[in-house]
Amino acid sequence: MAKKRLFTDNVERVPCDSGMPESHGRAEGSENKPRLFTGLQPSGQLHIGNYFGALKQTVELLQETNGLVMVADYHALTSLKSADELRANVAEVVRDFLAVGVDPARTIIFQQSAVPEHTELAWVFDCLVTVPFLMQAHAYKDKVAKGLEANAGLFTYPMLMAADILLYEIDVVPVGADQRQHVEYAREAAAKFNNTFGATFKEPREKILESVAVVPGTDGKKMSKSYGNTIPLFGTRDEITKAVMGIVTDSAGDMPEHVYAIHKLLRTEHELAILYAAHKGKYKALKDALVEDIDALIAPMRQRRESITDADVKSVLREGAERARAQADKKMRDVRAKVGVTL
Ligand code: ADP
Ligand code: TRP
Repeated sequence: MAKKRLFTDNVERVPCDSGMPESHGRAEGSENKPRLFTGLQPSGQLHIGNYFGALKQTVELLQETNGLVMVADYHALTSLKSADELRANVAEVVRDFLAVGVDPARTIIFQQSAVPEHTELAWVFDCLVTVPFLMQAHAYKDKVAKGLEANAGLFTYPMLMAADILLYEIDVVPVGADQRQHVEYAREAAAKFNNTFGATFKEPREKILESVAVVPGTDGKKMSKSYGNTIPLFGTRDEITKAVMGIVTDSAGDMPEHVYAIHKLLRTEHELAILYAAHKGKYKALKDALVEDIDALIAPMRQRRESITDADVKSVLREGAERARAQADKKMRDVRAKVGVTL
């Protein structure tokens, strides 16, 4: 992937040896491992695109390293205006994290709004970056291109995301390809701050698995909850069947391309070569096989998810907020002193 910088107002890089605050409490054996951070907006049901594009690798990386996973509720507020829905979605995302295997004993799971240092640091970054710089953000540009009105929160969204990451001395941010630019914004915010006020923030890098960077939906386009082309991650067998049967197929040719593209996430090319040769032209049989494979993956996670109580969710968030705040507080004290808002 080209490492070209997107932005015109790049700033000079100040070397930053920010050093790890002792309170970060790394797990044994992970001293030299990169620190990880990722976030998910509580804005709807997860789909297998979220899982293969972002969550799966996050869970794998978290087996070996320290990290934080965050429910980005203030980011969701840029689009969601129903308190009941937002509240319910926050709990659902925590269940999702636990069900896919994020271990709260090792990883900090927390809610963005529970750590006010995020919005505080975002303001500091807002005061450092320019309007034309933020105008290059895809999320903002897409909205404007569609003739929709973007709120100011959507416009400054990248600086809140930069604050999310930079508060915690993060090395790596596992995300899907559509979040690449946001991590670039975080690097730029870090560099701008370091350049203006002295070495403070580490520049994080995104981790995108190119093989699954864009998981296709049932219509062959990028799977996304906004396109109505998803296969739900925790769907019942019936819901999965319905979504798979709805995969668009081209009646010409022997190979249902869109079915295969999703199947590739679950089986090796060699296995698929045998399966697709055995069922050449039989789209229904191939879709049935795909349902089986998706259900086999999901069933254990679905079962784990069902066993998670409301009390579990609350306790995970309570503890996560405490642990995240201890780290964010330390970093923000340094930032406040450097910008001059403390006497
Ligand atoms: P959606 O497009 O459905 O609204 P989100 O924007 O909430 O999804 O994405 C949450 C995470 O899942 C992000 O890291 C994003 O990059 C990843 N992701 C979403 N859709 C896909 C996809 N189709 N393929 C790969 N990764 C995806
Ligand atoms: N913007 C991300 C998304 O929509 C969610 C997010 C918020 C995030 N803060 C983050 C992801 C920090 C990674 C790191 O998917």
